Amino acid sequence: MTALLRIDDLTVDLPAAGGTFRVLDGQRLEVEEGGILGIVGESGSGKTMLLRTIMGILPEGATRTWTAAFDGRPIDDVARLPIAMVFQDPMTSFNPLARIGTHLVEVARRHARLSRGEARRRAVEALAAVRVPDPERVFGRYPHELSGGLRQRAMIAMSLLAEPRLLLADEPTTALDATVQAEILALLRQLQAERRLTVVVVTHDLGVVAALCDTVAVMKDGAIVERGPVDDVFSQPQHPYTRSLLDAAPERGTL
Ligand SMILES: Nc1ncnc2c1ncn2[C@@H]1O[C@H](COP(=O)(O)OP(=O)(O)OP(=O)(O)O)[C@@H](O)[C@H]1O
Ligand SMILES: [Mg+2]
Repeated sequence: MTALLRIDDLTVDLPAAGGTFRVLDGQRLEVEEGGILGIVGESGSGKTMLLRTIMGILPEGATRTWTAAFDGRPIDDVARLPIAMVFQDPMTSFNPLARIGTHLVEVARRHARLSRGEARRRAVEALAAVRVPDPERVFGRYPHELSGGLRQRAMIAMSLLAEPRLLLADEPTTALDATVQAEILALLRQLQAERRLTVVVVTHDLGVVAALCDTVAVMKDGAIVERGPVDDVFSQPQHPYTRSLLDAAPERGTL
């Protein structure tokens, strides 16, 4: 497999009281095309910052150095890459005063020069693609009128309208109950297969990694301490931190 995204020597500094705080330190990451990479690790280890670096949405005042390539070409402007991100809480991504359809049409039109009618058609299509029952009805709803699971589907639909090749998901199911969680994970897998998407998912749930991912990266203190095929890492963890994670998660449950 070839790497869709390759990052070397990644360092990110955030502004902190009296100076800066190094949140990612000299990291290397390869994301294989068409794969699902899971990122696990303790709270504060830099998982979200790593995704935000890839998405080009670091907090104000952050500085980043890296050597990076997307699809074999050096990256000069990360904001122009076909990458989309879904967040843990879809409410933060939606304007509560705008209908779901308004959000989707806006993304579709920003991405491609479409007439209003064509953008609307694509938006409803995207809702159907994420298996929303009755997409026309959901199109006209406000974010707070939807269940958590439907809202997460609508956010995934919104991200698909930008036609990404790489989808980043930061704890996309943590806020949902177990059944809905499983449905959203199944959806991510279906989309990955149907659209040949490459997915990077951050999760606290080793069960999610086992069920969904083919590769896993384990983070601790701003560093990826271990990375490899899920089966290898879970059966023969090399790093003491990975071993302690697995020990702390009986039957590969939640961390
Ligand atoms: N906007 C910010 N400004 C400054 N520091 C931040 C900001 N966001 C996060 N940090 C710090 O950066 C470090 C890494 O945070 P990050 O959010 O990437 O961790 P995480 O691995 O995603 O944790 P969690 O599992 O809790 O989501 C932490 O020490 C955190 O306090
Ligand atoms: Mg996080």
